[in-house]
Amino acid sequence: MGVNEFHFSILRALLVLFALLPLGCASLPRADAQDLARTRTQFPTATLASLEAGRRAFADSCAGCHALPRPEAKSADEWPKVLDEMAHEAKLNSGQRDLIAQFLTAISRRSQAAQLERR
Ligand code: HEC
Repeated sequence: MGVNEFHFSILRALLVLFALLPLGCASLPRADAQDLARTRTQFPTATLASLEAGRRAFADSCAGCHALPRPEAKSADEWPKVLDEMAHEAKLNSGQRDLIAQFLTAISRRSQAAQLERR
């Protein structure tokens, strides 16, 4: 195998690898301590662990019928109403629904806060 052929096969292997990576989940933001502080005004019992559990439940439950929605697509006020409908679609119990609501409103609040700072 010549050097060029060898490089080509490495390149091809990398392309296949990247094509198989679950990008939707990898690019989904994680909630941090600041997000948690903002979320507690709405969900007083939220923790970093519950926000991470919500992130995972969201990625697992919400991409079956349509693309995974962006958390910033709805405001913190809008998400609970959307989730009331989608919890039925995704057959979530109320615990799963609440975890996903925590995560989505946390990231949505983060982008709302960032927009206010830019003004
Ligand atoms: C069984 C299929 C199914 C699953 C699972 C599902 N959805 Fe949906 N979703 C739909 C359909 C169908 C629509 C479009 C009809 C509608 O708006 O009611 C939709 C629309 C939406 C919309 C746009 C609604 C609007 O008012 O702009 C959002 C946001 C959404 N889904 C979020 C979610 C989330 C979050 C989850 C996970 C909890 C989820 N979906 C799981 C079927 C599903």
